Amino acid sequence: MPKKIVQSEFEVFDDINALSENDQILFKSAIKACDNAYAPYSHFFVGAATRVEGKIYFGNNQENAAYPSGICAERSLIYWLGANFPHTQIDVIAVAAREESSNHDLPVTPCGACRQALLEYEIKQKKPIKLLFRGSDKKIWVSPSINNLLPIAFTEDNLHE
Ligand code: THU
Repeated sequence: MPKKIVQSEFEVFDDINALSENDQILFKSAIKACDNAYAPYSHFFVGAATRVEGKIYFGNNQENAAYPSGICAERSLIYWLGANFPHTQIDVIAVAAREESSNHDLPVTPCGACRQALLEYEIKQKKPIKLLFRGSDKKIWVSPSINNLLPIAFTEDNLHE
């Protein structure tokens, strides 16, 4: 049986301080963005941050008593950007999570639905979006693109074949 191997490569930094200054600021901004998460049900606070024209913008998870009506931090950010900066290119997004009562970030990677949503905008802007997140090994993982996190994705190409 012929097989195909699909691989993803990440840059892995020992800690936040090992990132470039701009990426450090962005990752710390994602941690800060957790402050405004509304997570009374999961108590898992997630923040996302990006820079547009030198200014940092935030997203965070917003939950709902009707659970599926809530939204993740990454999608709240990307849809807000789509609504407010439809023609701006996004270079980097940082995602972080934190425990309710501490300022320490926790490991988090974008869920499948967020990967799909972020990929849509990466394809739209025809330029990779770099993604920073903390892995379960406590290191900072950098994905060079969203596609790297969601290979063999369903895209508009599938609709037209
Ligand atoms: N969550 C995010 O906001 N982003 C992720 O990448 C993973 C999960 C949120 C959704 C829900 O509000 C809570 O974390 C627990 O799943």
